[in-house]
Amino acid sequence: MDNQAYDDLARVEDTHWYHTGRRKLVEYYMDSIRRGPCHQAGILDVGCGTGGMLETLRKYGAVTGLEISAHAAGICLRKHPSARIRIGSANDLDKTFAGEQFDIVTFFNVLYHEWILDDTRVLKEAFSLVRPGGFVVINEPAYKFLYRDNDRICMGKRRYTVPEIRDIMKAAGFNVARITYFNSISFLPLLLSSMLQRAGLFRSKKASDELGAPPPVVNGLLKFAMSCELAAIKIFGGFPFGVSILAVGRKDIRP
Ligand SMILES: C[S@@+](CC[C@H](N)C(=O)[O-])C[C@H]1O[C@@H](n2cnc3c(N)ncnc32)[C@H](O)[C@@H]1O
Repeated sequence: MDNQAYDDLARVEDTHWYHTGRRKLVEYYMDSIRRGPCHQAGILDVGCGTGGMLETLRKYGAVTGLEISAHAAGICLRKHPSARIRIGSANDLDKTFAGEQFDIVTFFNVLYHEWILDDTRVLKEAFSLVRPGGFVVINEPAYKFLYRDNDRICMGKRRYTVPEIRDIMKAAGFNVARITYFNSISFLPLLLSSMLQRAGLFRSKKASDELGAPPPVVNGLLKFAMSCELAAIKIFGGFPFGVSILAVGRKDIRP
């Protein structure tokens, strides 16, 4: 990813409706796996980027971020001076964290990335880093037919379905505890935008063309729509479609 894409992400991630809505959904899932108020989990956030998830994860334990881009890690440290950030690759999790174990390993929009050589292998290595009884939390983009300029700019190579995420989690050794699509409100706009872009119209050249924050009133309305979707996920246990996927996998105590 070029540095501009990280700068654009850092500028919007605290207030943008997608990021605030995703954090609330992640909190809901994390609450469901927390083992008690006093338990200070060891958490590894792989591909932590500019740190958009760090404050949320800190509510659940001591977070270590892993990031391949020194530029992104620098922004992350400026925003969160006390954060523990390692610069390194998710493709070498076993070497980078040799001898270390975590209660929870998270991937937020990382496995889909072009710099991930083999998503299943990365998850297998994550499995070996998770303590028995621990968890993996995964959020990735959904549906290949929604591929568009923003994926290219952010170096996205993969988009998944729920069954595909389930399959790679199982192949890595995790039991899938929860899985859902989310961000359904973006489904039609993104479908339209990917169709138009395939026809050569309304092309995006930089991340901010698509990722920029909308006007405050629109941002507020979209935040409200995301909270309605979260309410539906709480009631029905998941959502049948959306442009993103969130999943929690558990590593059994006994192999
Ligand atoms: C779309 S951003 C997501 C950032 C953050 N996790 C979030 O959700 O806000 C993808 C991040 O994964 C990082 N990344 C991609 N491939 C990686 C790899 N092989 N090792 C470590 N980080 C990687 C990128 O540098 C980027 O910061």
